[in-house]
Amino acid sequence: MLKLDNVYTAYGNIEALKGISLEVDQGEIAAIIGANGAGKSTMLNTISGVLHPKQGTIKFLGQRIDNLTAHAIVALGISQAPEGRRIFPQLTVMENLEMGAYARKVKGQGPAPAGFKRGSKVKSDLENMFHYFPVLKQRLKQPGGTMSGGEQQMLAIARALMAQPRLLLLDEPSLER
Ligand SMILES: Nc1ncnc2c1ncn2[C@@H]1O[C@H](COP(=O)(O)OP(=O)(O)OP(=O)(O)O)[C@@H](O)[C@H]1O
Ligand SMILES: [Mg+2]
Repeated sequence: MLKLDNVYTAYGNIEALKGISLEVDQGEIAAIIGANGAGKSTMLNTISGVLHPKQGTIKFLGQRIDNLTAHAIVALGISQAPEGRRIFPQLTVMENLEMGAYARKVKGQGPAPAGFKRGSKVKSDLENMFHYFPVLKQRLKQPGGTMSGGEQQMLAIARALMAQPRLLLLDEPSLER
């Protein structure tokens, strides 16, 4: 499903990834373990298109994605719950979840832009999120930034799932602060 081949990613002169190769199959859970600064977040951000490799290739379902923008990669079916959660603190819990479904809400006729899916099933997926994370249902109108650390992490994971990903990237999902 996902294949990284000899991926190098740098921040200016700082080489964070030096030739990473990795394969993940459909239905598989892969865990990346490494010291602080080892490059775990850099790798996930390179897969999701927040960063771009300076060398090497990344393929998702056989298609090269290392040259695509982050929003195009979301549309193909990869979503990320980033390190530190990065929820929208001023938006309510419900609005954060709706933002996760943003790319699915493309309306109108004809082909959807660049792989975006058209509408539908958002309501039943919301119900699923409330089933996984009951606390979210009790706090729909609460600003995301006022949720506790662990609650924000649940929100970040639920927001990522609301994009209906085929591949979910979780960066330090058990980190509370
Ligand atoms: N924006 C940046 N500019 C310069 N260097 C960076 C930047 N982001 C990360 N780095 C460096 O890249 C290396 C890899 O960092 P990364 O955040 O990927 O590590 P990590 O494995 O996720 O660590 P942690 O377990 O602490 O989250 C580190 O040496 C870090 O200092
Ligand atoms: Mg990290």
